[in-house]
Amino acid sequence: MNIKEKYKKLKKSNSLVGNLTYFLSRRVWLILKFFISRNYRSSLWDKYFHPKESFQIVTYTKMDRYPLLFKESSNYFIKKHITQPKILSFGCSTGEEVLSIKNYLPHSIVHGTDINKKCIEHCQRNIVDTDLFFYNRLSNEFNIESNFDAIFCLAVFQRTENRTKKSRKKATGFVFNDFENELIELNKKLNIGGLLIIDHCDFNFADIKIS
Ligand SMILES: C[S@@+](CC[C@H](N)C(=O)[O-])C[C@H]1O[C@@H](n2cnc3c(N)ncnc32)[C@H](O)[C@@H]1O
Repeated sequence: MNIKEKYKKLKKSNSLVGNLTYFLSRRVWLILKFFISRNYRSSLWDKYFHPKESFQIVTYTKMDRYPLLFKESSNYFIKKHITQPKILSFGCSTGEEVLSIKNYLPHSIVHGTDINKKCIEHCQRNIVDTDLFFYNRLSNEFNIESNFDAIFCLAVFQRTENRTKKSRKKATGFVFNDFENELIELNKKLNIGGLLIIDHCDFNFADIKIS
């Protein structure tokens, strides 16, 4: 069992010392994170000042997180003879997803959008490529962009607490209507025959009106 698993076990442990250790160390970590991480402070800002627009608060991401989805999408465009697909990474965080898509589809134009101001600033500062574009979800640029051949919505249509808090009987913070309304908007930006790719999601796509 690695340290992470051992630590998680403390949360469910029957001993008071175990529970207390988990509770206190978690609080200390969150306080440290607040001072260390701009992205985390920005997530909290979104959570409290854009509660309706902000879905997943966590900004965790990594390179090549979804190899199967990226490979299948690449195969689809090859089959359809779409040589320069225009792609949106919705909830791109710090840009690793955009870079991964570009690796699988070297001729693509990839747009990344996120509600977290600090994540988008990070992308704009660190990722310089004429085929890659980054803008905030609440910006006018996002409103006017359309004609995407694929929209990736990966680990964005979710709220961690909706899954981890056992006492919670129904979703709060990010609810089904938010999911449905956002997909209605994204659908308008997708070309006919385009791909809408959703993963790590709190709700069922088949339940929404436009499915
Ligand atoms: C867990 S990260 C996922 C990053 C990446 N898509 C991945 O799967 O590796 C979720 C991201 O969604 C962003 N997000 C949350 N609500 C959003 C919204 N309404 N519009 C755009 N991005 C949003 C968060 O700021 C965060 O960066």
